Amino acid sequence: MRNSRGRGTRPGRRVVAVVAPASSANLGPGFDVFAVALERPVDRLTLSAEKSSKTEALLTVRGDSDVSVSAEENAASYVALSIARDRGIHTILRIELKKGIPVGVGLGSSAASSVAAALAVDELFELGLSQTELLRFSALGERLSSGAAHYDNVAASLVGGFSVAINDGDRPRVISFSPPRALKLCLATPVVALPKRKTEFARSLLPSATKLSAAVHNLSMASAIVSGFARGDVELIGYGMRDEIIEPARAGMIPGFREVRKAAIQSGASGVCISGAGPTVLAVTDSRSTSPPSILKAMLHAFGDSGVKATGFITKVGRGARVVAS
Ligand code: HSE
Repeated sequence: MRNSRGRGTRPGRRVVAVVAPASSANLGPGFDVFAVALERPVDRLTLSAEKSSKTEALLTVRGDSDVSVSAEENAASYVALSIARDRGIHTILRIELKKGIPVGVGLGSSAASSVAAALAVDELFELGLSQTELLRFSALGERLSSGAAHYDNVAASLVGGFSVAINDGDRPRVISFSPPRALKLCLATPVVALPKRKTEFARSLLPSATKLSAAVHNLSMASAIVSGFARGDVELIGYGMRDEIIEPARAGMIPGFREVRKAAIQSGASGVCISGAGPTVLAVTDSRSTSPPSILKAMLHAFGDSGVKATGFITKVGRGARVVAS
C-alpha cells in the first residue's frame, strides 16, 4: 500500500524506506508477460536526499550480493537517477540497498531493486507517478541489467499477486490476480556457472521465429493459467505451465531440468517451469492435497542425482512493493 501524500519534501530530513519482493516470471508460456510476486525474499531500499546543483547518487549496497556499487551501473540507483533527471530534480540521492534477493538466479532481483527505487523516489519527492510511469522507469533497470526493458518481473514486484503485464509498446499496464489460498511455490536453485549477464545470455538463446502450432499451444496454455487464477484453481494453473517455445531453448542451461520436473510432478506438483530466465526451477502445488516440503525435497534430490548442488525454499504468492517508513 502506498503512503498518503501531501507532506512537503525536505531534502536531508526525510528518509523513505521501501521493500520490494522477488518474483518468478513467465510461468512457462507467459514469456515477458506473466509473473508472480513471492512473499519472500525481498529487497529493502532507503532513500534520502540532499540539496545540490547536480543530480547524483551515493549508493551503498548491503547483503550477500555482487551487484554493481557504481551508481550509474546499479539498477536501483540508475532508475532513481533516471526519474530525478527526467523531472529536473537537482539533488544528491543517498541510497542504501539491502539485497535480500539472490542475484542472477531467476528471482527478479534487478526488478525488485528497480521497483523499490522508483517507488522511493516517487514517495520522497511526492511525484504522484502513475502505474505506467512506475513500470516504465522500473523497466529501465531491467534494460540496464539484461539489455531488454521487459515488464513481467517489475509488474509483479510493483503490484503483487499474479500479474499480467500488458504492453502494446506505448502504455504498459498491469492486471493483477489474487492467488488461490492453497497455492504454494517450491523453488529449487542449482549451483551452475552462468555468464555474468545471465538474462541477456538466456535471451540470446531464444528463437527469432516460431511455428504457428507452438504459438497456438502457448496461447492455449497461457489462457489456462489466467483462467486458473481467475477461478482459484491450482490444478489449472499448473496444467498451463507448459511452454513449447522458450523452455526448450533454455533447458540445456539447467543440468537435470527434465529430471527435476519429473520428480516434482511425481511428488504431486501441479506444474513446473523455469523461473524467469533460470536457473531456478519453480513448482506450483496445492497444499491441501500435497506436501510442498516433499516436492521440494524430490526436486533437490533430482538435482543431486544429476550431479548438481541445489538449494531451495517454499513460499507463496505475495504482496507488491510498499513504503514501510517515511
Ligand atoms: N521474461 C524474462 C526472460 C524474465 O525470461 O528473459 C527474466 O528477466
